[in-house]
Amino acid sequence: MAKIAWVDKDECTGCEVCVDNLPDVFRMDDDDVAECYNPKGATEEEIQEDAIDVCPVECIHWQK
Ligand code: F3S
Repeated sequence: MAKIAWVDKDECTGCEVCVDNLPDVFRMDDDDVAECYNPKGATEEEIQEDAIDVCPVECIHWQK
């Protein structure tokens, strides 16, 4: 089953690293925190390396 990423919005500081790296997957919402609007906009490897691994507060997760 495909893994789906999600952003813990309570933890996101709005640094926009994930949005800068993967704009086809993440965007800023009206509250200036990130949301994963298109989980299939990149490979799982890209999401892991360019978003999950580099988010400074580690608030992007794989749905369990
Ligand atoms: Fe927020 Fe982390 Fe992205 S702090 S804007 S989810 S890189």
